Amino acid sequence: MNKTIIANWKLNLDHLEAIQLFQKLNYSLDNDIDKKIKIVVAPSFTSLRSIQTIIEADKLKLYLASQDVSEFVEGAYTGEVSVTQLEKLKISFCIVGHSERRQHFNETDESINLKVHNLINKKIVPVICFGESIEQRKSENYLDFLIEQVEKSIKGLRKDKVDEIIFAYEPVWAIGTGETPSLQDIVDVISNIKEFLSSKPFFDEENTKFIYGGRVTPDNSKEILNTKIVNGALVGGASLDVDKFIKIIESIE
Ligand code: 13P
Repeated sequence: MNKTIIANWKLNLDHLEAIQLFQKLNYSLDNDIDKKIKIVVAPSFTSLRSIQTIIEADKLKLYLASQDVSEFVEGAYTGEVSVTQLEKLKISFCIVGHSERRQHFNETDESINLKVHNLINKKIVPVICFGESIEQRKSENYLDFLIEQVEKSIKGLRKDKVDEIIFAYEPVWAIGTGETPSLQDIVDVISNIKEFLSSKPFFDEENTKFIYGGRVTPDNSKEILNTKIVNGALVGGASLDVDKFIKIIESIE
């Protein structure tokens, strides 16, 4: 089954620790792991170069994601990292609009949309996160809220430009907590978003994927990842533990 599993290491690990964890993951992966499963690691910016060097030197079938990117392409924007810089590092994926960035860094839908355009122009696959808070979930119209979030992130996208795009449903109330939505909740949200996107000019079944994130562990991964509409997972905490992360990957049938 074609699945994409992304390890979001968030603000953890210096570059030496990241190399160590990456090597451990690489050695622990079964050689004959299904070629259709894409395993992606998203470390901090400071570790991208070191890991990319290992992937390239050893011709590994693992992929790199950045956890964010600037909405600006170049210029006087101190502290920012651009798509061009990521492209040069052969980064394949980039997470955008993670709820932690929306919450702690006031990231807006407009800035997320700019990032998505910049990434698509450079053929880096955007992993667009969307999700509702617990208050929104309790309200009747949380699906409208989610659709609006997605709609704003993809404004102006054209079919001829989009090779691949990933939407990651991450309910804010499930991230790093003990709570997880039911499988039916996940399927309902993804189905609704998929239906909404199906009228968009860039959309086709091949180029648009839907993954789930929010306390994915070896205990729930089998159920979530073997559901057809779910094309993969964005894993936080459990991805820092190689044994757990491998179990999550191995739960794909
Ligand atoms: P946890 O898996 O730690 O809940 O984090 C999910 C997440 O935010 C992935 O991007």
